Amino acid sequence: MKREYIFIGPPGSGKGTQTIMLSKEFGLPHVDTGALLRAEIASGSEIGQRANERIKKGQLVPIEIVSEIIKNRLKSKDCQNGFILDGYPRSIEQAQALDAIFKEIDGSNSVDRKVFYFNIAEDSLIERLINRRTCPKCGSIFNLKTMNLDKPICPYCNVELSQRKDDTVDVAKARFETYFKETHPLIDLYSKRNLVYTIDADKDIETVYEQLKRVVEQ
Ligand code: AP5
Ligand code: MG
Repeated sequence: MKREYIFIGPPGSGKGTQTIMLSKEFGLPHVDTGALLRAEIASGSEIGQRANERIKKGQLVPIEIVSEIIKNRLKSKDCQNGFILDGYPRSIEQAQALDAIFKEIDGSNSVDRKVFYFNIAEDSLIERLINRRTCPKCGSIFNLKTMNLDKPICPYCNVELSQRKDDTVDVAKARFETYFKETHPLIDLYSKRNLVYTIDADKDIETVYEQLKRVVEQ
């Protein structure tokens, strides 16, 4: 059955780390809205410029931009057997847009749809964010403080790791505010549809992944 997995959680809760692992093991495309938007910014497109204005303030990018990007992505051939949504939807309005997209791409076919909620207290997350580094080539995510990297170099690609521009204390605080105001209410919405699986995201990376796998394989 087609798998449609949605990941919701505050900034730094580990959505990217876990969805990359899940994507590799289960062969499902990892659709990361933040990464898609950062690629638009890097390409210098008009969409990227508009997105950048919001991202650097820790605010949501306008819905018409993200929903269009997601719709095109989910219609692609490699998403026919399912996908992992990391960072979309992020508001009630986006959840409604996603319902319409699901109707268009799935019709009345039955699908295995699940929402994973990464539950974690905000306290430890700023530390995680300011120490995050990513590989510009393979997209792997690291933490300078906890991962004991000798140098900020990707061990797989041997290229220098980069830091996201929105991983500063001030922008991270704004992102938390946006999350609690706009995104967190989705847990209630999807709980009413019995789709939510709560994951304790305050555990080490392997333990969080074990929780996820138990749900995916049940
Ligand atoms: P996005 O890129 O999605 O950022 P985010 O939601 O703030 O989440 P992060 O990517 O920062 O965190 P994560 O949960 O993926 O954590 P990670 O695994 O990397 O969005 C960026 C911006 O784009 C938004 O602010 C918005 O402007 C815009 N945008 C995106 N989607 C949008 C949408 N739908 N609508 C409108 N605008 C949108 O891990 C973080 C760190 O913690 C790493 O260093 C990692 O190594 C470490 N770590 C991970 N797991 C653990 C663990 N279990 N224990 C210890 N450390 C861990
Ligand atoms: Mg992420």
